[in-house]
Amino acid sequence: MPVEIESSWHIRDVEIPSRIVLAPMAGVSVQAFRRQGRRFGAGLVCSEMVSCAGLQHRNERTLGYLRIGRDERPLAVQIFGSEPAVMADAARMVEAAGADLVDINFGCPVRKVTKTGAGATLLEDPDRACAIVAAVAGSVDVPVSVKLRRGLRNGSRAALSLGPKLVEAGAASLTLHPRSATQMYTGSADHTLTAELVELVDVPVVASGDIVSRGRAIEVLEETGASAVMVGRAAQGNPWAIGEIAGLLETEPTREEVVAELVLFMRATVRELGEQRATGFLKKFYGWYLGRGRFPKPFKQELVRLTTLGEVEDRLFAAAPGAADGLAALESELPGEEDVLLDLPISIYGGG
Ligand SMILES: Cc1cc2nc3c(=O)[nH]c(=O)nc-3n(C[C@H](O)[C@H](O)[C@H](O)COP(=O)(O)O)c2cc1C
Repeated sequence: MPVEIESSWHIRDVEIPSRIVLAPMAGVSVQAFRRQGRRFGAGLVCSEMVSCAGLQHRNERTLGYLRIGRDERPLAVQIFGSEPAVMADAARMVEAAGADLVDINFGCPVRKVTKTGAGATLLEDPDRACAIVAAVAGSVDVPVSVKLRRGLRNGSRAALSLGPKLVEAGAASLTLHPRSATQMYTGSADHTLTAELVELVDVPVVASGDIVSRGRAIEVLEETGASAVMVGRAAQGNPWAIGEIAGLLETEPTREEVVAELVLFMRATVRELGEQRATGFLKKFYGWYLGRGRFPKPFKQELVRLTTLGEVEDRLFAAAPGAADGLAALESELPGEEDVLLDLPISIYGGG
């Protein structure tokens, strides 16, 4: 029996209300993105990867990644690093901040990360990988999940030999993005490997890679036996893709809906990152939201050149005047920040 996308499932005792997981994406998966993903039907959302060294040194920006909202849960916070003891300490901070799951990154192919022995490097360093999972799982009560690529080089099957060992070490769930680190994002995700991994382990497996539509999601769930699909690039500036995969939406959004959702996202991002950081952060989102034939290209280029977010909002409302009402309706339905933000425990700031 194929699983229903709308049905719930569990990672140990954490109940996840749909089979859609919003992917962790560095430079994308801010809280505003995660809360939006939950609103459109994702059952589980994930922070971007957080450096365990940054947490160890109480780096202020890194600590900011641990600010969790009630309305985004269930939520996984992903950590990366190569030292088991430091990863275990980071996991304790993640748990104390209110995350439902600690996710470990064994897939990042970026050289800045792999050269430190973290990310995808661990796919071919099984002893260290297992030591990290055992240390993390031993230090927290919440379940620990691991996200993998298939291996370092093209054609590698490293994830299949490593996966069962990670489960033995304490992983309660595995996510596989079946591309090699060398591949980065080229070629396609080979989900025959995901099906093989499902056969090898007795914990839920999440299939990540090239899930762009409800049709593809159903196909991958059926062909692999995975418990859920993860959606990444398809959801960038496009929460409606999550809605379509969840079976909640059938039509493309109107221009007014796109602008209302974008402005809501901009305002939430400013509260989260501050105006200055948000101004740069948001530039890539204009193309993502307004592309896909929704607005002409010169309009997106014009927005990127504007210097303040106030000017961007004015330009957006001028292009889609009806959007202001849609935005007001969205803002009135959502809980205020003060109702949803969990405080960072004092201990996270080193007691001060
Ligand atoms: C911009 C970007 C940033 C990413 N950052 C992370 C990350 O921080 N941690 C991680 O495990 N995967 C990361 N990924 C990989 C995605 O989680 C996902 O596995 C991959 O994009 C394949 O899924 P997709 O085809 O649905 O995009 C990132 C991907 C992109 C495009």
